[in-house]
Amino acid sequence: MSILVTGGAGYIGSHTCLELLNAGYKVVVVDNLNNSKVESLSRIKEITGKELSFYKVELLDKNEVERVFAENKIEAVVHFAGLKAVGESVRIPLYYYYNNIAGTLILCEIMNKFGIHKMVFSSSAAVYGEPQSVPISENVPLGPANPYGRTKLMIEEILQDLYISSPNWSIALLRYFNPIGAHPSGKIGEDPSGIPNNLMPYITQVAAGKLKELHIFGNDYPTSDGTGVRDYIHVVDIAKGHLKAVEKILTQTGVGAYNLGTGKGYSVLEMVNAFDRATGEKIPYKMVAPRPGDVASCYADPTKAIEELDWIAEKGMEEMCLDAWRWQKNNPNGNGD
Ligand code: NAD
Ligand code: WQD
Repeated sequence: MSILVTGGAGYIGSHTCLELLNAGYKVVVVDNLNNSKVESLSRIKEITGKELSFYKVELLDKNEVERVFAENKIEAVVHFAGLKAVGESVRIPLYYYYNNIAGTLILCEIMNKFGIHKMVFSSSAAVYGEPQSVPISENVPLGPANPYGRTKLMIEEILQDLYISSPNWSIALLRYFNPIGAHPSGKIGEDPSGIPNNLMPYITQVAAGKLKELHIFGNDYPTSDGTGVRDYIHVVDIAKGHLKAVEKILTQTGVGAYNLGTGKGYSVLEMVNAFDRATGEKIPYKMVAPRPGDVASCYADPTKAIEELDWIAEKGMEEMCLDAWRWQKNNPNGNGD
């Protein structure tokens, strides 16, 4: 029996495939390579010494997805495939709604057809929108602030309805906070196309001399130093959270949402200083206006995942910075090298 990983060639998917293989699972990856390269899968094989199956398949192509299920004995699905750029989702919302939601509907329909009812879904802290207070627990009212976040909330609701319709479904909704870093081997990591939107890849590209300086978006927030606070979490910890969630859905039915975060918030300036301390690289920066839509502070209460998934984030900020930097230095052009 295999675990099907949609979006398995991407950033979080590739780290999760690696952990699944190391834990002894067989892995089948489906990815259209829209935001990733097949090289990440070769690197996983290199690190683990194990094989995985890969289908370059578009999730919106029902016949092709069905073929993957027909050709493999799938036990459960870890569903990463989706578009994730918040700004782009505001500019071209239909593309986001169609890709993320229709892709999930097709996947669920085919799972139903093959009698497979176990899924781990990549949700996001984006479902919370502007938090009323921090840390954020799973049971607060949800209110995503952009189309990307709304696709995640809508999919969560679709999956809840599936469970209500048929209680043999078993679904874990994992709400990640801010995944950063890379595998300690330096062989797989985040490979953003163009100028990065997110803080850590921007910092590593400044350190590498690809970008001139970091622009810090806002220094007048009600936080300890005025810059925005987030819950940065090592991508390997996130991947291990999927392993725990897979174990849970394989043994129990039900649907549950879990925050995957460390529970600690770091400001942008604290991140810049942590990167400097860990790597010895000074990051030039300048303060600029806040980025529209950003919130002052967002970090998780991870208690539910600790108690119900038996998972806890283990890696600290120094490791996150060192691993992100090793990946950048070893792969100046990401997976394109
Ligand atoms: P990523 O872009 O690196 O990986 C997503 C993968 O899905 C890519 O390889 C892409 O080619 C593939 N894909 C997209 N649409 C597809 C389709 N229609 N058919 C087949 N393949 C398709 O992104 P990531 O950072 O690894 O994120 C994985 C998941 O986690 C996404 O659903 C994302 O929304 C979610 N998430 C990411 C973050 C983050 O900060 N990285 C935070 C919270 C949630
Ligand atoms: C972090 C902090 C910025 C870049 C996004 C998505 C979220 C989730 C994770 C998918 C903020 C500041 C950033 C820069 C800066 N993704 N910053 N200069 O916005 O918390 O979350 O990624 O689900 O949905 O919105 O992450 O890394 O973009 O920003 O000052 O060049 O760094 O203002 O305070 P964010 P981020």
